[in-house]
Amino acid sequence: MNNIGVYGLGVMGQSLARNIMQHGFSVSVYNIETEITKQFTQKYPKLFGYESLEAFVNSLEKPRKIILIVTAGRVVDSVIASLKPLLAKGDILIDCGNSYYEDTQRRMQSLQQDGFYLIGSGVSGGEKGALHGPSIMPSGEYRAYCEIADIFTAIAAKNEDGTACCTYIGKEGSGHFVKMVHNGIEYADMQLLAELYAILKRLYPKDRAAVQKAFHQLNQHNLASYLLDITEDILQKKEQEEWLLDKVLDVAKQKGTGKWTACVSLEYGVPVPSLIEAVEARFLSSMKAQRLQAEQCYAGTQDEETSNEQLAADLCKAVLLAKTSIYAQGFSLIAAVNAQCGYHIDTKQLAVIWQNGCIIKSEFLKDIYQAYDKDANLTNLLVSDQFTEYVKQGREDLQRIISFALQKGLYIPVLCSAMNYVNGYTTASLETNLIQAQRDCFGAHTYERVDQAGVFHSDWLK
Ligand code: 6PG
Repeated sequence: MNNIGVYGLGVMGQSLARNIMQHGFSVSVYNIETEITKQFTQKYPKLFGYESLEAFVNSLEKPRKIILIVTAGRVVDSVIASLKPLLAKGDILIDCGNSYYEDTQRRMQSLQQDGFYLIGSGVSGGEKGALHGPSIMPSGEYRAYCEIADIFTAIAAKNEDGTACCTYIGKEGSGHFVKMVHNGIEYADMQLLAELYAILKRLYPKDRAAVQKAFHQLNQHNLASYLLDITEDILQKKEQEEWLLDKVLDVAKQKGTGKWTACVSLEYGVPVPSLIEAVEARFLSSMKAQRLQAEQCYAGTQDEETSNEQLAADLCKAVLLAKTSIYAQGFSLIAAVNAQCGYHIDTKQLAVIWQNGCIIKSEFLKDIYQAYDKDANLTNLLVSDQFTEYVKQGREDLQRIISFALQKGLYIPVLCSAMNYVNGYTTASLETNLIQAQRDCFGAHTYERVDQAGVFHSDWLK
């Protein structure tokens, strides 16, 4: 009898199966296209491949543990439906795809009525992470998680101190929820780097080496990150004698997790402007034909190219502020949904399991860990000492960079929204009193006062 099964042998499924096998567990594998199973097990004969679903399920020790790693959405429902008649009470399915967290909740409830368990598990790190150690975010019934904890902890990435980048996240679909927000942050981090690239290209128009060097300088200390690592590599990649990046079409695709994060933030009324802007930036990028046409209308309005060493030197502190703002937004969304849904997510642990293995892996997460370690109930990273310092130290630099970029006509939505979020969140008295007055004026929607309790209406036009 094998320890665990993997259903779905796409790149992620294959990598996960190999990772589990390499850690000494016996793994049954299944794919709807039997040819794929055959080829895969020929290459890795220590894995046990099955052509029939029944044989696959029956090859597993009880309670059976079956990882599903298939395309999110309806496919997950149909795979569960095909497995259900073959399962025994207490068996555990583990959805390791990028499922929408509310779908996971619905599936958990339905499976539990029949005596089965579903663990919804975010897995980050792409193909290489899945093979060499991903960051894993499982949630659902704790006793079901305990059955897979050994395997998941063994295959997860490890931090410098040996801690596994896998922890039980909380109730219901909370694992897929935090993975979704991880991806929302991932979108903002990526757009931030694209905006820095635009600024650096403007600062060093004909000097690719200077752009490479600037990214290298950024990728140090607490800004060191996986996304900066790959950006450095990408900037050095040549095809024949030309930069490969220059050949890549500027249309960014998306599978939907960033958009879900944006929608959930709107649903819960939690501002995450930079995460939303990053999604919008991908939409805008896809309007290639319109952008080409629109640029013609403004041809010749760009000013002279400039080189400015000081601005390049300002980048580090400015980026630290922007990252502070992005993560403050993302973590505040997690806190709000956690509180409302009663997931029992330990935010500090997210800062542990995202330090390695995942796409947003960075040194910066150590600062976030420290902040939540000091105060587990922190309302927003912006009010934590270390991050307050980053904001104070980076504000002028970021203002200069934003002003330079806007003067040059560059599109920098994440940098602007990151600064604006900080400006708004740290202003005790906003001018939204004018909005309340307008609402009351045209619609008698009433308003509250700063000097008296109660609800008021005035005749503003008299
Ligand atoms: C990860 C990634 C992974 C996937 C993204 C890509 O954490 O390993 O987030 O889940 O690569 O979802 O998303 P887009 O196609 O939407 O950019």
